[in-house]
Amino acid sequence: MAYTTELTIRRPDDWHLHLRDGAMMEAVLPFTTKQFGRAVIMPNLVEPVTTAAAAADYRRRILQALPDEGDGAGFLPLMTCYLTDAADPAQIEEGFLDGVFTAVKLYPANATTNSASGVTDPLALRGVFETMQRLGMPLLIHGEVTDSDIDIFDREAVFIDRILTPLVTNFPELKIVLEHVTTKDAVDFVSAQPGKLAATITAHHLIINRNAIFEGGIRPHNYCLPIAKRERHRLALREAAVSGAPYFFLGTDSAPHAISAKEAACGCAGIFTAPCAMGLYAQVFEEEDALDRLEGFASEFGPLFYGLEPNETSLTLRQDGQALPEMVSVNGGDPVRVFSAENPPSWSVAG
Ligand code: DOR
Ligand code: ZN
Repeated sequence: MAYTTELTIRRPDDWHLHLRDGAMMEAVLPFTTKQFGRAVIMPNLVEPVTTAAAAADYRRRILQALPDEGDGAGFLPLMTCYLTDAADPAQIEEGFLDGVFTAVKLYPANATTNSASGVTDPLALRGVFETMQRLGMPLLIHGEVTDSDIDIFDREAVFIDRILTPLVTNFPELKIVLEHVTTKDAVDFVSAQPGKLAATITAHHLIINRNAIFEGGIRPHNYCLPIAKRERHRLALREAAVSGAPYFFLGTDSAPHAISAKEAACGCAGIFTAPCAMGLYAQVFEEEDALDRLEGFASEFGPLFYGLEPNETSLTLRQDGQALPEMVSVNGGDPVRVFSAENPPSWSVAG
């Protein structure tokens, strides 16, 4: 059989992305627009994006930062609403019907970066979920409990038991995405209810397990939330990603932080994969002998779940062993370190 060194697929989308704002956004955005047609933009800015007006402004800033021509010019940011205890279902509905909000993002309070204004009791927000269920508006969930007595490696599994299970039962038609799944428990939960909910899978959780956080010393650039788990969980994620099941699709959770915020006594959670995201996924799919399934996972299953048309344009990946920059510089700030720069994927985007 001929060795595949080039692969052209329908242009993919990133269903979970942190762009930040200002100079950081301007520095990281081109990496995403080079590969993806659309991205679901996370609302956890320093000042969380809780209103349609704030989301529309944020979208305008992203669009202004796009190049005038080339692939990136047509990039479409899909905006999300940051859910709080004080959320008003009518305002969420209005933002959705006006075409500003694509989805709502649920962060349990204090689960991760800029989540202090998140939800303290998710099951209490019945009015919001009833409205979203009626509208067919997706709920994107950071699925971790935050109780200090729950081991950090168990937080996703406990969230599934305590919060997600009753949520799915109480709102059977609510469109739910369990974001950045990291456990076999999550894969099994989603697989057991086909069509009920979906899950995104990051590239980094397909590549590292929890040993990578402590290899020869503490490795802050491999620290993210949900934290990477044991090897058996990583293998379950790989199996899910290449399974061809339409309820598992691509979401990078690329999460840039200034290097000074990562390499610190209390370093931020987040792994910055945007510069090599499609290369990483292609490498994983090749290792799993499933390159023919990459297009479904990256370009078809997400639009299918969100009720959108897949992109019309294409993306070509090449196995050319291109080097990656170790750092991305940010105007007026510290640079951001790129995941896997020391061991780049063999695949990269052509052109
Ligand atoms: O590692 C993470 N980083 N996980 C999240 O949930 C948030 C993200 C961020 O915004 O930095
Ligand atoms: Zn995220």
